[in-house]
Amino acid sequence: MSFIPLSAPHLSGNEWTYIKDCLDTGWVSSVGAYVTRFENDLARAAALPHAVATTCGTAALHVAFLVAGVRPGDEVLVSSMTFIAPVNAIRYANAVPVLVDAEPRYWQMDVEQVRAFLHRQCERREGGVYNKQTGRRVAAIVPVHILGHPVDMRALMPLAEEFGLTVIEDATEALGSTYFGKPAGGIGHMGCYSFNGNKIITTGGGGMLVTANEAWAKKARYLTTQAKDDPQEYIHHEIGYNYRLTNIQAAFGCAQMEALPGYVERRRSINALYRQHLGDLPGFSLQGEAEGVRSNFWLSTARIDPVLFGMDARALRQRLKDAQIEARPLWQPAHLSPAHQDAVKLPCPVAEDLFAHCLSIPSCSFSTDEDILRVISVIRDAARP
Ligand SMILES: Cc1ncc(COP(=O)(O)O)c(C=O)c1O
Repeated sequence: MSFIPLSAPHLSGNEWTYIKDCLDTGWVSSVGAYVTRFENDLARAAALPHAVATTCGTAALHVAFLVAGVRPGDEVLVSSMTFIAPVNAIRYANAVPVLVDAEPRYWQMDVEQVRAFLHRQCERREGGVYNKQTGRRVAAIVPVHILGHPVDMRALMPLAEEFGLTVIEDATEALGSTYFGKPAGGIGHMGCYSFNGNKIITTGGGGMLVTANEAWAKKARYLTTQAKDDPQEYIHHEIGYNYRLTNIQAAFGCAQMEALPGYVERRRSINALYRQHLGDLPGFSLQGEAEGVRSNFWLSTARIDPVLFGMDARALRQRLKDAQIEARPLWQPAHLSPAHQDAVKLPCPVAEDLFAHCLSIPSCSFSTDEDILRVISVIRDAARP
């Protein structure tokens, strides 16, 4: 019985050719034509003029906060139901996360809770917005498009505008998703992507910051390359970072970008198969797709009602594991994370429910229909008869 992974690299095109080209020409490090080409590819994908490649998505987020003018002691609103990286990156900027619940329908940042926080718990003074309880300035909002499904940006952007807040989209899981025709990651003031091994495309490891703001892109490029003010004399006016992607990784990424449309289609058709064969199963509710959204369905995920389904998400995970199938629960919400107990925590009952009851199931773009039907059959067998 072969192993069916949750989400693994899919290498099917020009990866060998482009990486070999780097080796043949000696352009292997952080300068080279593939870095520029990969940046152009991502700028095009986000429908924005500027893209800056980074060593990983977390680095892109860190730099985005610095570029956005997030200062030490500022507060930054972020989804609690997320992989921990954006919350950590807020800490790298010495800012304080304000952890926001998920909405129950599509499991994304609860924009109404953001609205209530800004209107009721904050005040405007000195040209900024301040948390009345902590006295700290609120500087930015990070909607995390979890599992590939965009946050309700039509509600979020006007709210951010009203309060003068910068929106940095964590689109690391949502490359290729669209929201009312706009690419996820290209809707806020800045967007960040990740190309780690489990994402829809990979460069082994890598990230990208995209923006329409030329000055921000320039600043991001400066900060990600050690803030060189005079590269000949090694003069630096600011603390910079070694966050630049290598040409080899970018070459890998260029090949992956050629395949991206097909990968999105395949993840969507896998999701459709699950919907077709599991949609009627009591207590097994697949994540939906909101109006105007075209998700990349990076990870097909279901909420499992233990009573109706007959076992809970973790027991089902074990059942799948016994059948050589990888599945995993959602992330521990950041407000429960021992690492982030000093964050500002808004009430997050939905995030807690999702953590308790959700399971992501195999979604690799290289998985065959046969693989997916095997997953489906194990899930159907596990369900209450
Ligand atoms: C929501 C989210 N944000 C940020 C990241 C960080 O990306 P990276 O691993 O490239 O640093 C990831 C993935 O790892 C992620 O899932």
